Amino acid sequence: MSALAPRDRLIVALDLPDVGKAERLVERLGDAATFYKVGMELAYGGGGLAFARRLAAAGMKVFLDLKLLDIPNTVERATAQAAGLGATFLTVHAYPQAMKAAVVGARGSGLKLLAVTVLTSYDDEDMSDVGYRFGVVEMVRRRAEQAQALGVDGIVASAAEAKSIRTAVGKNMILVTPSIRPADAAVADQKRVAAPATAIRDGADFLVVGRPITTAPDPREAADAIVAEIAAAGS
Ligand code: C5P
Repeated sequence: MSALAPRDRLIVALDLPDVGKAERLVERLGDAATFYKVGMELAYGGGGLAFARRLAAAGMKVFLDLKLLDIPNTVERATAQAAGLGATFLTVHAYPQAMKAAVVGARGSGLKLLAVTVLTSYDDEDMSDVGYRFGVVEMVRRRAEQAQALGVDGIVASAAEAKSIRTAVGKNMILVTPSIRPADAAVADQKRVAAPATAIRDGADFLVVGRPITTAPDPREAADAIVAEIAAAGS
């Protein structure tokens, strides 16, 4: 992964309510960004997936953050559809049935699957509320190992977890890390944030950044500053 250019390691999260706003942001960013994340908000906003297809056709890389979880037949077929849109990454919840089905659905395409281990909004009490025997730390480790064993390509992990996940899964899995804040940025609702350089040093391959870029007065400048931090950490 370290062969990637610093700019190609930045994924801009298009957490925006409609395609028009997303198109304007992509246009403003121009060649400052090469990789975009389309999540549920934009996907369900009407036209979001057609927009993702256009982005991919225009040569951008697209991360579909749709966090699939359903019966195997549905997950397999939905994954094949995502591959057909030209997406580069797709998220699936790290349940073995869903991961196995997604691996089959992605076969023969360029789509890489990323497992979501435990949502970062969950703590140990939430885990016990839903009847899990394990706490967050143990469950993250267990699911990361299962993802790797089942042939999933990578893991999404908060910056705070990046180091321990990298240690657990070794070098060969892709590690994608959100909750990134440049040194001078507002933290907003993120509880555990890391600077771009820290996340890269802790083993992240790609950084997902939303509001520090999407709400910046000059999104291009904000993206360039993050890319410079990635470059400095990787050198
Ligand atoms: O605006 P901000 O940079 O906080 O956006 C981070 C993006 O990463 C959002 O799209 C959010 O859904 C996603 N994400 C996250 N924390 C996780 C998993 C995903 O912030 N643990």
